[in-house]
Amino acid sequence: MDVRTSLLDALRDHLALTGSKKGCDHGQCGACTVLINGRRVNACLSLAVMHEDDEITTIEGLGAPGHLHPMQESFLHHDGYQCGYCTPGQIVSAVGMLGEAKDNWPSHASETLDGKVELTDAEISERMSGNLCRCSAYPNIVDAIRDAHG
Ligand code: FES
Repeated sequence: MDVRTSLLDALRDHLALTGSKKGCDHGQCGACTVLINGRRVNACLSLAVMHEDDEITTIEGLGAPGHLHPMQESFLHHDGYQCGYCTPGQIVSAVGMLGEAKDNWPSHASETLDGKVELTDAEISERMSGNLCRCSAYPNIVDAIRDAHG
């Protein structure tokens, strides 16, 4: 593999993990979002060779064998998609976003007694603004994320 291969191309073309989508291929749409050590990254902007020791989670790695991740279930329940092309990136980004919320947003998010993070719809929209949906399914996407973490 060429050292200039992006992480996205390595996942899709070399590992046959095609859940991460190529929308713009230059960091503008979020369709390629993966988690690297739990943090959201646009895989099209990162070189595969930079991640030899990193834990990379794609949409294929969420949930458990035979069981969808709760965020996937919530997107299904709320019809958080139309054409579906951006959906893997939206879901991976939402999972990463909630992890970031728990770690880094004491001024933006309040935590309930059972440790869940409370986010307003506006906060969800702001924190998901790196993931575009050309079908504009945003209201349902926000509903799905709110329900998945509530
Ligand atoms: Fe990576 Fe659009 S394909 S941000």
